[in-house]
Amino acid sequence: FFGFPELLIPDPDEPPLIKGWIPFIGKALEFGKDAHGFLEKHKRKYGDVFTVQIAGKYMTFIMNPLLYPSIIKQGRQLDFHEFTDKVAPVTFGYPPVLGNTFHGLWEQIKRSFQLLQGDHLEPLTESMMGNLMLVFRQDHLDRAGDWRSGGLYEFCSSVMFEATFLTIYGKPASGVRHRGMDDLRRDFNKFDSMFPFLIAQIPIWLLGRTKAIRQKLISYFLPQKMSRWSNTSQFIQRRSELFEQHDKLKDVDKAAHHFAILWASVGNTLPATFWATYFLVSQPQALKVVRQEILDVLRDDGVEFDASRDVLLSKEQLDKLIFLESSINESLRLSSASMNIRVAQEDFSLRLDNDRSVGVRKGDVIALYPQSLHLDPEIYEEPQTFRFDRFVQDGREKTDFFKDGQKLRYYLMPFGSGSSMCPGRYFAINEIKQFVSLLLLYFDLQLEDGQNRPRLDSSRAGLGILLPSSDVRFRYRLRAD
Ligand code: HEM
Repeated sequence: FFGFPELLIPDPDEPPLIKGWIPFIGKALEFGKDAHGFLEKHKRKYGDVFTVQIAGKYMTFIMNPLLYPSIIKQGRQLDFHEFTDKVAPVTFGYPPVLGNTFHGLWEQIKRSFQLLQGDHLEPLTESMMGNLMLVFRQDHLDRAGDWRSGGLYEFCSSVMFEATFLTIYGKPASGVRHRGMDDLRRDFNKFDSMFPFLIAQIPIWLLGRTKAIRQKLISYFLPQKMSRWSNTSQFIQRRSELFEQHDKLKDVDKAAHHFAILWASVGNTLPATFWATYFLVSQPQALKVVRQEILDVLRDDGVEFDASRDVLLSKEQLDKLIFLESSINESLRLSSASMNIRVAQEDFSLRLDNDRSVGVRKGDVIALYPQSLHLDPEIYEEPQTFRFDRFVQDGREKTDFFKDGQKLRYYLMPFGSGSSMCPGRYFAINEIKQFVSLLLLYFDLQLEDGQNRPRLDSSRAGLGILLPSSDVRFRYRLRAD
């Protein structure tokens, strides 16, 4: 998407330029292997602003989080959407949205994101609760007493995938669960493993069976199928309606848009749910505090938890779970590696702080890489350690974190920033809270012996929450009390 850049002529106010020794590929290989290590190494050598040639693109990294606000507030000159409209269509297989073909569609799509937030969260939360309960009841709450074992990633992702799917897209024409969910998830995982290559604009025909798998996934969402589903979220209903207003969108294009939302809604949520669950199960003391918090919030509202009955946690109750929220934030801090990208819309001088500006040319890419902020020992003591209460202070959410003695405006950024911030973030945190609450309420949980913390699989570095490099074996059984 970035095309071939013009040769950069060094300018006194341009940041240091780091080139690889292989033309074009530049530093891409090194970056791909360990983006965080790569950027930290260059920060030590070149300071907190430098330009790297990656796969034919020139990207300027802003490494000091105190400078983030000056990038994030530059909504007009540093745009994000030009990037998404080039990358997302080739990745998910729909025609570009910006431009004259689909007049007004872009704005309509943006407006539809409001249906994931504010008052709309209530019905989504309620529906998610019912769907999680349904899947838990039918698949996991059917046998009392004995320990069962399984892979924790497999467990978390199968439940969350299906419950999220039912909440967003609705129920099938007959029955309460869609048939073929495991197959759909298997295909989704295959597509997901190719996702980094598609985002990097590698032509899909070079990626084995990826195109056929994507077609199969897209065909799941053809309008004639979706119109038979019920309890579909307002968000998806609105999107279907607005796609109908554009004659030039073919049925498969509409389906491809719906498929893109499947990726957005579970691609990060599944690994995020895994990490939150894993860290709590690996620290029994933390798990105990969080479980007690959930029981207390229920009790405060006059509900004694009873494992033989379905439990219901309202949005208001979920908001009170600050230790659980802190645990989720802490696991997002440890597993997120998304890159925030902006493309310069014109030549201009970007003011970084009181005494520093850098020259930016039209088409230049400016990148923030919050993983380096998340793992900065000056901001987060012992940054590799999971501390479930890191984001709690005096019984409230802790929001003050410092660098060089200054309070940080941005200290946790798994959901991006500014104009490109994830519109599903509130729903995502809520559904992870719901899943973990049900798991802790209904089950005793243990890691199997010898199960160490898995490494982060860096193949998705830059694109969101990283998956574990391998699954973790765990045991679970219905709680007796
Ligand atoms: C975009 C993270 C869950 C819907 C994004 C972006 C990030 C992100 C980093 C891109 C922002 C940028 O580039 O600056 C996450 C994480 C999640 C999550 C970490 C879970 C833990 C969800 C859910 C939904 C959702 C559950 C929907 C139900 C979207 C959409 C976009 C997006 C539609 C594109 C926004 C646009 O085009 O402007 N998300 N997300 N996300 N996310 Fe999420």
